[in-house]
Amino acid sequence: MVVASHAPTQQPSSEVLFQPIRIGGLDVPHRIVMAPLTRSRARTPGNVPTELMAAYYAQRASAALIISEATQVSMQGQGYAWTPGIHSREQVEGWRRVTDEVHKAGGRMFMQLWHVGRISHPALQPDHMLPVAPSPITPAGKAFIENEHGEGELVPFVRPRALDLDEMPYLVRQYARGARNAQIANADGIEVHGANGYLLEQFLATGTNHRVDAYGGPVEQRARLLLEVVEACIAIWGPERVGVRISPLSTFNDIQDDNPEATFSYVAEQLAEYKLAYLHVINPAATELQTGQPIPQRVEKLLALIRSKFRGVLMMAGGFTRDTAAQWIEAGRADLIAFGRAFLANPDLPERFRRKAGFNQPDPKTFYGGGEHGYTDYPSLEQELGTKPRPTVDTSWR
Ligand SMILES: Cc1cc2nc3c(=O)[nH]c(=O)nc-3n(C[C@H](O)[C@H](O)[C@H](O)COP(=O)(O)O)c2cc1C
Repeated sequence: MVVASHAPTQQPSSEVLFQPIRIGGLDVPHRIVMAPLTRSRARTPGNVPTELMAAYYAQRASAALIISEATQVSMQGQGYAWTPGIHSREQVEGWRRVTDEVHKAGGRMFMQLWHVGRISHPALQPDHMLPVAPSPITPAGKAFIENEHGEGELVPFVRPRALDLDEMPYLVRQYARGARNAQIANADGIEVHGANGYLLEQFLATGTNHRVDAYGGPVEQRARLLLEVVEACIAIWGPERVGVRISPLSTFNDIQDDNPEATFSYVAEQLAEYKLAYLHVINPAATELQTGQPIPQRVEKLLALIRSKFRGVLMMAGGFTRDTAAQWIEAGRADLIAFGRAFLANPDLPERFRRKAGFNQPDPKTFYGGGEHGYTDYPSLEQELGTKPRPTVDTSWR
């Protein structure tokens, strides 16, 4: 299977996946990370993490690092029904129960800090106000809200309100409070969500940022908010406990940039200065990787550019299998690989890789919302083999 023009031709040994590495201040035993996965199971009202969420994350504690589902830093930062926050006391207490369970099970967890910007709806905003964005440009697509019957519903996005210049320090403070709360909740670090078309990427990308002030125009100004947020988080955690996620060339959430090479080259170069725990890059060629097609030249070049600019720990995510993960690490293209859907459906993913065992298949119908089913009832190998009881399914829980 051709993965990349310079990938090794024979099947790599997956041993490279099981080499220890230091991620910022943490020594981890292998290279297999749990990617951030929104599961929309927080308790309402209040968007509070639950005991069930603690059980779900603890089941996955054998990851080198768990990155939490995206977690809004404020009510304004929420974009979907039932996603957890990290801005109220109850939420912090809920997250503390989650991290306690993860730590008891021997794991480590960074919290992904999130502000969705325009990918929201008045139904999710404080006092039903308009969502905010760099510029008043309506995204294509639909928002996922809770309707009056308590059910999830898709409704068209609205035209967001452009942020005033004097609101920018307030945005940075939202992230700083989230970072501080993650510390109180006993997380091991934080990941700044700079990817997937949410607020920070809306500022980065030329298609969503038409500002003419200090936060718009040339890339140095479009990247200003991201870098200010990163600096505010570093002031709380120190650089070795802060990671950043980016998604170059992605069009998810109606994002578009005139010159991604220039944008992400600048971002990688600037982020390298901070000596972060890691840079987390979503692979723009996840589909090609998954289907065994060659990686497009443009992607190859951009990933090589990012690698050359950012000399710290590089995490890649998107479309990886055990073998392609090993190939990319072997080839020096990444230091860590984050797995999303595979970890969602296989709580003991590292053990399955180690034993070259089979996998549970993820069920997209249960990705967002619901209870234990499709969440904590995916069996581990031990449970499949009958040496441990299978997880129970409580269908009464929502
Ligand atoms: C159900 C689901 C929820 C996701 N939620 C998030 C999220 O909260 N934050 C984020 O940065 N990416 C999120 N992603 C993207 C994943 O982190 C990952 O990049 C993607 O699944 C590709 O990796 P995979 O091919 O290993 O699944 C989500 C993906 C899925 C399938």
